[in-house]
Amino acid sequence: MAEVIWRAQPKQEAFMARPEWEALYGGAAGGGKSEALVMEALRQVHIPHYKALILRKTFPQLAELIDKSLNYYARAFPAAKYNDSKHTWTFPSGAKIRFGDLQYEQDKVKYQGQSFDFIAFDELTHFTWEEYSYLFSRCRPNGPGTRCYIRATANPGGVGHAWVKERFITAAPPMTTIWQEVEYRGPDGQVKRGRRSRVFVPARVTDNQKLLEHDPGYLLNLAALPQAQRAALLDGNWDSFSGQVFSEWRDDPAGYQSGRGTHVIDPFEVPGSWPIWRGFDWGYARPFSVGWYAVDGDRRLYRVRELYGCAGAPNEGVKWEPSRVAQEIRRIEREDPNLRGRTIHAVADPAIFASAGGESVGDIMARCQVYWDKGDHQRLPGKMQIHHRLAFDRRGVPMLYVFKTCRHFIRTVPALVYAPSDVEDVDTRGEDHIYDELRYVCMANPMAPRPRPRARPWSPLDSGDDGGNGGGHYDFYRRY
Ligand SMILES: Nc1ncnc2c1ncn2[C@@H]1O[C@H](COP(=O)(O)OP(=O)(O)O)[C@@H](O)[C@H]1O
Ligand SMILES: [Mg+2]
Repeated sequence: MAEVIWRAQPKQEAFMARPEWEALYGGAAGGGKSEALVMEALRQVHIPHYKALILRKTFPQLAELIDKSLNYYARAFPAAKYNDSKHTWTFPSGAKIRFGDLQYEQDKVKYQGQSFDFIAFDELTHFTWEEYSYLFSRCRPNGPGTRCYIRATANPGGVGHAWVKERFITAAPPMTTIWQEVEYRGPDGQVKRGRRSRVFVPARVTDNQKLLEHDPGYLLNLAALPQAQRAALLDGNWDSFSGQVFSEWRDDPAGYQSGRGTHVIDPFEVPGSWPIWRGFDWGYARPFSVGWYAVDGDRRLYRVRELYGCAGAPNEGVKWEPSRVAQEIRRIEREDPNLRGRTIHAVADPAIFASAGGESVGDIMARCQVYWDKGDHQRLPGKMQIHHRLAFDRRGVPMLYVFKTCRHFIRTVPALVYAPSDVEDVDTRGEDHIYDELRYVCMANPMAPRPRPRARPWSPLDSGDDGGNGGGHYDFYRRY
């Protein structure tokens, strides 16, 4: 009887049986995700022209996957050869499985002009949307009879957290096919419509009985992690993860009316006496962002409206000319009842006034009667201002609220992560345009930190007593 080299555990089997074009196997660490990915690549190695690509963000991280292949592939196909310098397996049929990295955006050229029937991404949240979607164009058959598809694994957290969460997790319940309509031009020049499918398969560490048999302490290791990391790695929770910059962020529908214990609230009619601020981060190929903020009597900010120039794909700009952005701003300020007829203070990225010979973005917008002051773009003080504003007082009231209609803010700002090269600053490879625009507005309305910051998130069980540290007792550096 043949020796069984590897047998999928039930959840791995569910992942490997999915018919969709894209599938993400995600969630808790140790669920058996990478193992399933490496084994999935073998499925078509009997077809001579089959080619597979297995990607990790950096080359050293690939070692874990290559080790798995050295163990399983070598045993399953004793005649298969591994080329150490090309990181490529060649099977007796001629089929190939290559291991690759994509550390820098320009590494994409390594895969240019190549086709892969199967493309796998291990730890997808380490990749940007551009990197992932670029590889779509590489996923095409090398000959007749192969199935072309994409598979990925991920843990919550990382620079790609936001787009991965939106694409796979919030789009539909787990194990449910998500359909995307796509239009394309056929060889006859006619626009055709088609559908692409994708799915999310959740992983839990308890799915991996093999691991727990080998290492019963592994669960305890995860349980002993700090709270955010534990939620992400043990429970596979996509709302909290380590490396998150604004870990104090709370979006709790139970507080949308009362405004307690949440930063997101239901929209309301803004009193006419509250000043309005408008912030702006310019972008063309990347999204631009305009945010309108109302300021209450305690100088609390409310983001009441947003205009975000995103083309639909994460972090991809709509490519509007500055004059079109200005016209849209004027239209919104004419029509939105919370903005109509108001005096609006406006701050923008000072870079919009840089002119490379021609008219600057700021000048063009001024010609359209949309005026900006130069914002203060010091990165770390701006980031601290946002932390001061997000902190809850003892009543669970922060100094920054976001209307629940500002969905791009809610999608992108909580997902920002720290830069690998600078432990204090935000990773600018993430979708940070709304964050930038918020910084200019916060720097124009600076506040001192709370005298005694809360050691833990506000909870509804906290007493109403604010110990002299609640209800509007803040120092402001600037008065109106
Ligand atoms: N089907 C399986 N059969 C035997 N052992 C497995 C199987 N799946 C996973 N394992 C064991 O569990 C460990 C963790 O799996 P891995 O795929 O690396 O987890 P993840 O990528 O989800 O963190 C592997 O190193 C391996 O020892
Ligand atoms: Mg893994």
